[in-house]
Amino acid sequence: MSNIYIPHKARIASIKQETADIKSFQFELLDPEVRKNFKWKSGQFLILSVFGVGEATFTFANPQTRSEYVECSIKKTGLVTEALHDLEVGDIVAIRGPYGNWFPFEKFKGQNLLFVGGGIGIAAIRSPIEYSLDTRNDFKDITILYGGRSPLDICYFDKFDEWQGKKANLVLTADKGSEGWKHKVGFVPAVLKEMKPSRDNCTVITCGPPIMIKFVLKELTDLGFAPEQIVTTLEMKMKCGLGKCGRCNIQQLYVCKDGPVFDYAEIKKLPDEF
Ligand SMILES: Cc1cc2nc3c(=O)[nH]c(=O)nc-3n(C[C@H](O)[C@H](O)[C@H](O)COP(=O)(O)OP(=O)(O)OC[C@H]3O[C@@H](n4cnc5c(N)ncnc54)[C@H](O)[C@@H]3O)c2cc1C
Ligand code: FES
Repeated sequence: MSNIYIPHKARIASIKQETADIKSFQFELLDPEVRKNFKWKSGQFLILSVFGVGEATFTFANPQTRSEYVECSIKKTGLVTEALHDLEVGDIVAIRGPYGNWFPFEKFKGQNLLFVGGGIGIAAIRSPIEYSLDTRNDFKDITILYGGRSPLDICYFDKFDEWQGKKANLVLTADKGSEGWKHKVGFVPAVLKEMKPSRDNCTVITCGPPIMIKFVLKELTDLGFAPEQIVTTLEMKMKCGLGKCGRCNIQQLYVCKDGPVFDYAEIKKLPDEF
């Protein structure tokens, strides 16, 4: 394990423009010893520093089974993310982590998996999607429902062939279609309702904007899914990532330490705004 208290320098090895405001970065940790020992699991997150600007929290977009680089898909929303979008290949940042808990894949073995993602939330479920595809024999059917505001807001087009080649059923939707868009048109929860997934032996992993999650949870509940069958990751403002500063505290929980992965049964015990 690497020392989670120490930021490690990393070089930007590649940058891919996914959409107008999302870029995917590959970071290479500079110290070979740190690189070797820097291990994470799907669902965990890191804290990234842009020198002279500040720190921000990002999920590992790639799974432990594809760990040559640290990969993050980052949406431009404010100070640090704008500075990151201005960086170039070869520039140096710092990374500390990994932090938080992870998706309990041991519990999901032998099950059907349904991934439901929206917007930048797809970054948080790309890692468990690819982990489940890399350990494909452990699972039954794998279905991915992913939506964006428009076809131009969909990330990871370059990964879809590989995902489908590993026998994932991929359903794409855009809130508003456009010429040439051959997939679904409509909000993610509406498409989910149309798909009518069976709750039998199925775990749902979902991440997206709060409004999407709210209606996805409603549809799944209407379809008979139990709260324990639905897993998501919570996004809170974070500072230390280590359970020390209290920034991400909800009641007895620290999202950075006890989460960010929670099942819906746990989330239902929290105040309504979560
Ligand atoms: C566990 C975790 C994983 C994350 N993974 C990713 C990821 O993979 N890709 C990605 O693009 N983003 C991710 N985020 C969100 C990301 O941390 C924020 O967008 C980022 O911190 C914004 O930093 P900034 O300095 O650019 O914006 P700021 O200048 O700090 O703020 C810009 C605006 O965004 C709001 N904001 C900042 N952080 C958050 C937040 N966490 N939730 C809601 N609103 C916020 C601010 O209130 C403000 O309105 C994750 C957050 C968490 C907690
Ligand atoms: S971010 Fe500091 S306690 Fe969670």
